[in-house]
Amino acid sequence: MRILPILAIFTGVVLASCGSLDSGDGSGAGEGQTLTIYSSRHYDSDYALYEAFEEETGVTVEAIEADGDLLIERVKAAGDQSPADVIITVDAGRLWRAEQEELFAPVSSAVLEERVPANMRHPDGLWFAVATRARVIVYAEDRVDGGDLTGYASLADPAFRRRVCARSSGNVYNISLLAALIDRWGSDTAQQWANGVNANFARDPLGGDSDQIRAVAAGECDVAIVNHYYFARLMGTEPEVTDGLAVFWPNAEAGVHVNISGMGMSRNAPNPELAQQFLEFAVSDRAQRFFAELTNEYPAVASVTYENAALAELGDFEADPLAATVLGENQAEAQRLFDRAGWQ
Ligand SMILES: [Fe+2]
Repeated sequence: MRILPILAIFTGVVLASCGSLDSGDGSGAGEGQTLTIYSSRHYDSDYALYEAFEEETGVTVEAIEADGDLLIERVKAAGDQSPADVIITVDAGRLWRAEQEELFAPVSSAVLEERVPANMRHPDGLWFAVATRARVIVYAEDRVDGGDLTGYASLADPAFRRRVCARSSGNVYNISLLAALIDRWGSDTAQQWANGVNANFARDPLGGDSDQIRAVAAGECDVAIVNHYYFARLMGTEPEVTDGLAVFWPNAEAGVHVNISGMGMSRNAPNPELAQQFLEFAVSDRAQRFFAELTNEYPAVASVTYENAALAELGDFEADPLAATVLGENQAEAQRLFDRAGWQ
């Protein structure tokens, strides 16, 4: 395996070749071909996925990494000249933005349609979920009775005045959560919820999801809204932070808000057949396990089994079956409600 150093190729964006496996034993069918992936993910699961794809096909994967919105800007700016074959990003909200910019080509694939649930893919095959994440409530067991939490609505309950932590409202995870709640409750109730949570903040929104967990551990707040994998990761790397904390699954009503990491074929993909081959490989059992075992996400393909002690400890939950497309459609309204609520 060859690992190239990370090279800055333009401001804020890095080129990371994840190494091409010498496929001395392989079929060599893809020998000499390069698949270019633009990704806003920089996780071990993805590098394992790229390497496994190289190993199985003989293709060399080149990954260009940038954070969500910058990635979209780069592909858009390059237009027909973009070398991107595949685009991978996190959050249905970002997939929707990329879709609005017409960055994706439709893919018709029996494999993808059979493996990825209908609510987690674009109806015309513009994008498909590869992994899912749940937005959960973390609480301090010594200061909160888990029985007092009923669902996302609890966060707006006056009983939690000055006890809630969350990141900023500009963050796409929160926008997508509120987008789901708009669908669930209607705009007026969703607005009241945003107002209520904002009134309950223990401190101004600050930092990322891990910072909210640390703030609960430090006693700055008693409850926080975070994506589950941040908690699962800290369980392994910093148990002193998660000891004394618990995850509450907001199963009530429609279930736990679930978001996706997704992928699609770039509209100007130089190698469309290879791109489709990669998308199909990414939903294979082998590839799906990487997401659960290396990044603590849930596989998009429900039938896939995996080994992950932290996820096993977090237990089962009821996922909201809402179509991921709705999370995109309600983005703008969600941001408006946050702004009106004064949630920074
Ligand atoms: Fe994240």
